[in-house]
Amino acid sequence: MTIVSLARFQFAMTTIFHYFFVPFSIGTVFVVAVMETRYVQTKDPAYRKMTKFWGNIFLLSFAVGVVTGLIQEFQFGMNWSDYSRFMGDIFGAPLAFEALMAFFVESTFIGLWMFTWDRVKKGLHLFFIWMVFIGTTVSALWILTANSFMQHPVGYTIKNGRAEMVNFGALLANKQLLFEYGHVVLAALLTGATVITGLAAFQLLKKKRTVSDVNKKIYHKTMRMGMWMMLIFSLGTILVGDLQMKYLVKEQPMKFAATEAVYTTTGKKAPWSVVALVDPKTHKTEASIDIPDMLSLLTYGKTTGSVTGMKEINAQLEKKYGTKIGGQKVSYYVPVNTLFWSFRVMVGFGSLLFLVSLCGLIATRRGRTAMYEKRWVMWLFGLLTFSPFLANTTGWMITEFGRYPWTVYGLFTIAQSVSPNVSVTSLLISNIVYFLLFTGLAAVMIALICRELRHDPNEVEEGQLEKLTADPFAKGAF
Ligand code: HEM
Repeated sequence: MTIVSLARFQFAMTTIFHYFFVPFSIGTVFVVAVMETRYVQTKDPAYRKMTKFWGNIFLLSFAVGVVTGLIQEFQFGMNWSDYSRFMGDIFGAPLAFEALMAFFVESTFIGLWMFTWDRVKKGLHLFFIWMVFIGTTVSALWILTANSFMQHPVGYTIKNGRAEMVNFGALLANKQLLFEYGHVVLAALLTGATVITGLAAFQLLKKKRTVSDVNKKIYHKTMRMGMWMMLIFSLGTILVGDLQMKYLVKEQPMKFAATEAVYTTTGKKAPWSVVALVDPKTHKTEASIDIPDMLSLLTYGKTTGSVTGMKEINAQLEKKYGTKIGGQKVSYYVPVNTLFWSFRVMVGFGSLLFLVSLCGLIATRRGRTAMYEKRWVMWLFGLLTFSPFLANTTGWMITEFGRYPWTVYGLFTIAQSVSPNVSVTSLLISNIVYFLLFTGLAAVMIALICRELRHDPNEVEEGQLEKLTADPFAKGAF
């Protein structure tokens, strides 16, 4: 166990855990905002009940997400102080904007939305929830501006060993940001749609015998709306993902070659390996199942075009950056098995969500309800609740492991970034403490969601109306 490996483990653990909640809250607030919009448009009380019921799930995800984000910030200071010193001038502005413009907007409007049901006009109440959604997406923009700089540095100069910003506009116009932001936001919307559809399926499964007809209809409506969103957002995620992949061919060729396990530069007609057994030690692909010409087609949109292999890219990078950085030997090979399999998990789930939502929409067209009675189909939708979390995590694993050995591509390495005076013991202790904390938080989150799901939308609405009339400030209480 080295300082670098423990610090990297901690970064991966905190980021993965934090990122369970980010797309969850961005996606669910969008679904809830659409439900409330439908309520305001149609005045159908079913939409109001849906909004309140699923709104509670969004509020839980937001609360826990904030706590995990704070831990994320701590570990930057603790384990990555040299990186923070190097990047401070670049990171400072986007992160300050994030806190001032986005987080404050989100928090203020969440409060307004929670406490003003029936106290302000319907249109104004709807405005509050859309402001929360806008706040979450602006927040994502600033964070991804910083992350995109790490993948593709622009608008900076190096002074006294630090990166200093010279062009803020260039940071925002970064092409990496354009693709990353599109892919991340669409994937978050897909996450929200899949989670709410899946939870509605679980509700129908669990409460098959006891659930009232009013609630059943609400769950059917929820699933139908959710499936439309799953279809649109899975397609969007796939299309932007494809553009991102093509962009990587030029900007980060080692990452691209690793996701396709190409060690040796291919001929003009590159085959695509569906699965492959790769040995990173010998730099060889031991066995694979290939589709002829497919990699050329995926990369260049035509059946010819060679793909540069990792061995050749490594030699080019060694020539460009040297074999030693900061006195330490570097290898430009990225963890190929992690990238290869992560890519297949992400793409596999994206395609599955598209197909399942398409079939679901066909089966429930023009008010048909037979699908909701089939237990295996409800189990399928229920289990898919977890799939976007896996796709998001594997997506980030490609992005972050794939920039190895750099923290800031071409400028600063992982070995240079770690805090100089952090010790193995302190890292071990903080890893254990964080692990226990995350396990506790996850248990609390799951318990709270299960508690929420013991109720049904109709009862939640009636329960809240009772609370409202007991409130001395409520309209019509006296
Ligand atoms: C055919 C489908 C997909 C393709 C072609 C695709 C492509 C990509 C590529 C190339 C990257 C790495 C980008 C980089 O390092 O700059 C990436 C990252 C990522 N993907 Fe996907 N993806 C697909 C589906 C999905 C799905 C379904 C989700 C989640 C529900 C998802 C979530 C992510 C996330 C969160 C990242 C990390 C952030 C980023 O770099 O954009 N992807 N994807």
